[in-house]
Amino acid sequence: MGPPDAILGVTEAFKRDTNPKKMNLGVGAYRDDNGKPFVLPSVRKAEELLISQKLDKEYLPISGNAEFCKKSIGLAIGDDNSALADGLNVTVQGISGTGALRIGSTFLSKFFPGPKTVWLPAPTWGNHVPIFKHVNMDVQQYRYYDPKTCGFNFSGALEDISKIPEGGLIMLHACAHNPTGVDPKQEQWDEMSKVIKDRKLLPFFDMAYQGFASGDVAKDAYAVRKFLADGHKICLSQSFSKNMGLYGERAGAFTIICNDKDEAARVLSQVKILIRPLYSNPPLHGSRIVATILNNPDLHALWLEDVKGMADRIISMRSKLRSNLAKEGSVRDWTHITEQIGMFCFTGMTPDQVAKLTKEFSVYLTKDGRISVAGIASSNVEYLAHAMHQVTK
Ligand SMILES: Cc1ncc(COP(=O)(O)O)c(C=O)c1O
Repeated sequence: MGPPDAILGVTEAFKRDTNPKKMNLGVGAYRDDNGKPFVLPSVRKAEELLISQKLDKEYLPISGNAEFCKKSIGLAIGDDNSALADGLNVTVQGISGTGALRIGSTFLSKFFPGPKTVWLPAPTWGNHVPIFKHVNMDVQQYRYYDPKTCGFNFSGALEDISKIPEGGLIMLHACAHNPTGVDPKQEQWDEMSKVIKDRKLLPFFDMAYQGFASGDVAKDAYAVRKFLADGHKICLSQSFSKNMGLYGERAGAFTIICNDKDEAARVLSQVKILIRPLYSNPPLHGSRIVATILNNPDLHALWLEDVKGMADRIISMRSKLRSNLAKEGSVRDWTHITEQIGMFCFTGMTPDQVAKLTKEFSVYLTKDGRISVAGIASSNVEYLAHAMHQVTK
C-alpha cells in the first residue's frame, strides 16, 4: 500500500469530518462566496452554444484541437507575437496542465541535448518532482522562497541559477507560484532572464494560473512574454483548470518555441510519436469550450470579467483574513497574506500548528502550511482567523 496523495489525501480526511464548521483549504479549486464550486458564466454560455451546434464526437487528432491550440498559445504569448506568425511554435493539446507537463518531460528526457537534470524552485508544486522523475531525469532545486520574509529570495535564486551548469533546464512558475503565492516582480524577472540567458538554460514555464494572480491575463503573462522578447526559446505548459474553472474537463496545452519552421516540423513529428502510445488523442469537450470562449469576442470579454471576479474575490479574502487576525489580537506579522498572490497563501504555520488547526478546528490544509485562499468565504473568514490565532499565539 502506498501513501495517500499529499493534497488529495487532505480532501479525503475532510470528507470524513462531521464538524459543520469544517473548512477544506487543501485542494486548489476555486469556490464562490458560499463555498460552492463555481462554473463560470462564460463557460455555461459556451456550452449552450456548443450543444446548439449538435457537433459530432469524433476523435481529435493526436496533437489535439487545432483551434484550441492556436488560441491557447495566443493567450499566453500574445496573438501578435512574431513567433506565431513565423510558425516557430509547436503547440499540442495536453490532458490539462499535468498532461502538458508530462508531454514536455517525456519529450525533453528523449531529445534535450543538455544535462538531463531539471532545476525546480524550492519549494515547488509537489507533482513537478515525480513528473520529471518518471522520465528518469535528475531533479535539483534552486532557492526561491525565503521563510524569514515569507517572500521571494531573489538574491538566493539568482546566485543558485548562476551556478546551474551551462545548457541545463530550468522550471519557472509563470505566475501565482504554487505553493508559496510568491512571484518575482517584473524587474526581478528581467534580471532572471539575463542570468538564465548567460547560463544558456532552457526555461520551461509552467503557467497554470494565467489571470488568477492579478485578474489581468496579459499582466500575468509578463514573464513568458519578456523571456521571448529577450530571445529565449522556451517550453510552456498551460492549464485552463483554474482560469476557466474547467478542472475535470482536462484542457491544457504544451508548447515549444523552436529556432525555425523546419525544426518546428521535426519537433511536432516527434511529439506526436510520443503522444500516440500514451493516450492516443486528448479529450474534446473542454478544448471546444476554451476555443469557443477565446474565439468569440463577446464570450471572451465575459470570460475576462469572470477571471477578474475570481481574482478579486481571492484578493478580498486575503485582506479580510489579515484584518480579522489583527482583530483577534494576533501580534504576528501577517503582511505576507496580502503580499502573496494567486490561489495560495503560504502562511508560515509549522506542521504542529497545522495539525492543531485540523484537530481542534476542523480546518484542513497541507502540512507545509499552505492554504487555498479560494476556499475561504465571507461567512467563515472570521472563524479561520480565530482558529489561526489560537494555534499561533
Ligand atoms: C503549478 C501547477 N502546475 C500545473 C498544475 C496542473 O493542474 P491541471 O492538471 O489540473 O491543469 C497545477 C494544479 O494545481 C499547478 O498548481
